[in-house]
Amino acid sequence: METNRREFIKKSALGTAGLAIGGMGLSAASYRRIIGANDRIIFAAVGVNSRGLANINAILGCTGTAISHICDVDSRAVVKGIDEVEKIAGSKPAGIGDIRQLLENKSVDAITVATPDHWHAPMAIMATRSGKHVYLEKPSSHNIYENEKLVEAYKESGKVIQMGNQQRSAPTSIEAVERIRKGDIGKPYFGKAWYANTRGPIGRGKEIPVPEWLNWDLWQGPAPRTPYRDNIVHYNWHWFWRWGTGELLNNATHEVDVCRWALGVDYPDRVSAMGGRLHYEGDDWEFYDTQVVNYQYSDDKLITWEGKSCNGMKEYNMGRGAMIQGTNGSFVLHRNGYEMYDLSGKLVEKKEETGKSETTGTRGSGSLDILHMYNFLEAIRRGEKLHAPVDDEAISVNLCHLGNISQRVGKMIDVDIDTGRVRDDKEAIALMRREYEQGWEL
Ligand SMILES: NC(=O)c1ccc[n+]([C@@H]2O[C@H](COP(=O)([O-])OP(=O)(O)OC[C@H]3O[C@@H](n4cnc5c(N)ncnc54)[C@H](O)[C@@H]3O)[C@@H](O)[C@H]2O)c1
Repeated sequence: METNRREFIKKSALGTAGLAIGGMGLSAASYRRIIGANDRIIFAAVGVNSRGLANINAILGCTGTAISHICDVDSRAVVKGIDEVEKIAGSKPAGIGDIRQLLENKSVDAITVATPDHWHAPMAIMATRSGKHVYLEKPSSHNIYENEKLVEAYKESGKVIQMGNQQRSAPTSIEAVERIRKGDIGKPYFGKAWYANTRGPIGRGKEIPVPEWLNWDLWQGPAPRTPYRDNIVHYNWHWFWRWGTGELLNNATHEVDVCRWALGVDYPDRVSAMGGRLHYEGDDWEFYDTQVVNYQYSDDKLITWEGKSCNGMKEYNMGRGAMIQGTNGSFVLHRNGYEMYDLSGKLVEKKEETGKSETTGTRGSGSLDILHMYNFLEAIRRGEKLHAPVDDEAISVNLCHLGNISQRVGKMIDVDIDTGRVRDDKEAIALMRREYEQGWEL
């Protein structure tokens, strides 16, 4: 059931400008001058169980947008997504179960992707080849090889791909990074990122029949087939190598990225990771619930990430954040603002973000989503510089992949600083890519 594009646009008289204007600090009149009706961008939201709903809110939080399709392999999620659009925009998008059919639809300009990680790069590559722009949730890929293929497709297609690490669009973080680069804390040399949560165990999965609401074959997509179990869908796939990428790519993709951005670095020479499934034992969780990863840049810079999935002990009173240390002082950057400290560790300045963003739940919704989406739209409409273009973000995502590779092989790995590839270690090199289901190879 397709909705005619013109009729759809007519029906979706988006009454949501207020949200967007509030989020960006623009007056209604100035905003209307910026965005004309002809600039309207038609979206399909793909993967809408949880984060996808936040993406829907961000799209409709910006004037000059409409959502014509909701795509999910869970028929209940499709209904949830349609209801969300209807609640906000008053129009009813079409529901669709298969991304391949959706991509044939020429009226869709852009898609958001908030599926499990194993689908991110394959879906974004398919979408750009079909002429769509992509707002792609982090992490951009399931492995390093996929990032390389994705960046190739991005450059070839000329389409816009923004990765969904929304802090890149936080005005206070942009300002703090500018100040760090200007020398406000002297020479910056150390970035410390952290994440803490209180996730419970996931038990031992039992094989059960595939629920009637789920297309399990398409949910698995590029991943090799396996029988359905009752502790995978939704969300817990994060903790299985076959589909997920662990806490490191689930969350360090935000704050390790902030460190890399603030320090102005790309690939390190060496990566080491240690930790394990230390908090709980005896369940199916394949990754690490406690992990420390170090990135050594020549001899003059260091980034460290400390991830705690099952113990919410905070640092600087925050469950997540990034601290940048320099020769004259430090900055702490987070989604709701920044603090500057002098060399003795005394707070000297504090700035709060005007809008608020969720930092404790798993959906990450809030005002930064709107700013990030707005930047994506402006890049499509007017060629504005993207805050999180996928070719740059693939570097941060690869840093996280390298951490997992080091942990898995149990030793420090050497990295080619030009390509981000592992050097001189057969076992680690093999982990830069995955096995694909036959017929789904990239
Ligand atoms: N930027 C952020 O702050 C932020 C916050 C939360 C999640 N995320 C990212 O968003 C993604 C989704 O996370 P979530 O918590 O919503 O996961 P989830 O498991 O709750 O939802 C994923 C949805 O994708 C659907 N799906 C699976 N295969 C599909 C396919 N082939 N076509 C269409 N739909 C498909 C599933 O049925 C489900 O509805 C993850 O990659 C996560 O890392 C980002």
